[in-house]
Amino acid sequence: MIRVDKLVCSQIADLSRKDVKQLCKKGLITVGGKKVGAEDKIDENEQIVVDGRILCVRKNVCIMMNKPKDVVCSTKDGISRTVIELLDEDLQFKNLFPAGRLDKDSTGFVLLTNDGQLSHKMLSPKKHVPKTYIVGLENDAKSEYINAFESGMEIDGGDVCKPAKLFIDENNKKICKVVLYEGMYHQIKRMFARLGNKVVSLHRTHIGGLELDRNLQLGQARMLENFEIERIFSFDLRNT
Ligand code: URA
Repeated sequence: MIRVDKLVCSQIADLSRKDVKQLCKKGLITVGGKKVGAEDKIDENEQIVVDGRILCVRKNVCIMMNKPKDVVCSTKDGISRTVIELLDEDLQFKNLFPAGRLDKDSTGFVLLTNDGQLSHKMLSPKKHVPKTYIVGLENDAKSEYINAFESGMEIDGGDVCKPAKLFIDENNKKICKVVLYEGMYHQIKRMFARLGNKVVSLHRTHIGGLELDRNLQLGQARMLENFEIERIFSFDLRNT
């Protein structure tokens, strides 16, 4: 839900909030056929008419969130807070869902959208949208891990991973960067467990070629522009 004045001003650049208030007072703004006040909260997917002009509001939205720990990537959960519940009121668009998941104890980049097609494109195994993570380990990473990741290792339960990239921080070998081209359940934790190490922190920094906005604090979110959505699909390993 979003306030009438906020929505109308964001769509019609030459209207101020004061103008919107005046138009509402005159009954010239309707939502779903009903007159509204400037401060009313409305569903942006309804038809909005401003002084005879139909507003075309973006139905599909895509939101970037910096997920904190202890929040789950689902729309509903009886116990934990969900990424949807964490959104500020002005980002509470209808039918949002997380396109891809991070574990409850992982942090970082999560995309929320109400665009089924976009989500399908992002998660489709054929598209191989890579994800980049910064991983904290209990013990130093060994250089052999790089080949193990590259060669497509088998993990517990018999799952065989696609080749993945591992970069070890030369100054602190407990820190690694991992690029995955798929997303199996607890995959990174299981890959390091297979090598006898343990993940102590996991933060996603990139989805495809798009980096998590460094200005977003944990728990914060913002809408993506179209050029940013396009960037998801143009990945270059050298830029991550
Ligand atoms: N791999 C994991 O183990 N956990 C995540 O949250 C993401 C990738």
